Amino acid sequence: MKLSKQTVLITGGSAGVGLELARKFKQHNNRVIICGRNAEQLARAVQEIGDIETIQCDLAQESDIHALVETLKNKVGELSILVNNAGVQLNYNFIQAEPEYTLKDIDWEIDVNLNAVIKLTTLCLPLLRQQPESAIVNVSSGLAIAPKSTAPVYCATKAAIHIFSKALRYQMEDNAPNIAVYDAILPLVDTNMTRGRGKGKISPQQVAHEVFAAMERNRYEICVGKVKLLVLINRILPQLAAKILRNS
Ligand SMILES: NC(=O)c1ccc[n+]([C@@H]2O[C@H](COP(=O)([O-])OP(=O)(O)OC[C@H]3O[C@@H](n4cnc5c(N)ncnc54)[C@H](OP(=O)(O)O)[C@@H]3O)[C@@H](O)[C@H]2O)c1
Repeated sequence: MKLSKQTVLITGGSAGVGLELARKFKQHNNRVIICGRNAEQLARAVQEIGDIETIQCDLAQESDIHALVETLKNKVGELSILVNNAGVQLNYNFIQAEPEYTLKDIDWEIDVNLNAVIKLTTLCLPLLRQQPESAIVNVSSGLAIAPKSTAPVYCATKAAIHIFSKALRYQMEDNAPNIAVYDAILPLVDTNMTRGRGKGKISPQQVAHEVFAAMERNRYEICVGKVKLLVLINRILPQLAAKILRNS
């Protein structure tokens, strides 16, 4: 699709992958709006990238999702690309005498990673439908293909995003072909989320580069970096893919 002169909302655009996607879209002459919880982090992103807009918003709160979309409708006036990037990861050990997690933590992780994506997408669809060409970009993970043991809820939310994206794409193809649905499946990326763990991480700049290039070529399932190899291994030797990711 054409990736200039679009109006782009990037959730979690103040850090990591989202920040680099914001920079990339800005470099290509798009109007870029980012959202996140932390106002200082949003301000730092503006200082770094320049002329982008910010909306402070906690996607775990349904009222904030409504307020975000109202701002888009009333102050921005249009939306052509929605990037559902914001995400959080908690590590749980489900077998522990004194669990370090609560049911609220589980709700929170599912709310940010999955419910917010579905709700924000639902509320943005009327704006996206008004455009001749528009897109929804969901950010998923290689852990949606083969999970790791330490983050079962996170992996479950990313698997759900992967399948949600596919089914939503079918609906758009049949009913609203002006809306493309992309699923960016990421490998381990060097961001705050992975600080202090994991080897062989790629940079968020590399992610932004690959996602942008794939969107330009209308590749809807975007396997970034080593995810290309993971998909291949999972197809031929699923037990090996499971073994590689299990303790990653
Ligand atoms: N890093 C990896 O290895 C990796 C691998 C596969 C997939 N991914 C996915 O890539 C996406 C980006 O991850 P990242 O590594 O760039 O994470 P990150 O560096 O931790 O950045 C997360 C961004 O999301 C925002 N955010 C978090 N919770 C939010 C909430 N409740 N409401 C609004 N904004 C919120 C954060 O801003 P505030 O804290 O200010 O809210 C920040 O801007 C996520 O969906 C993640 O699951 C990452």
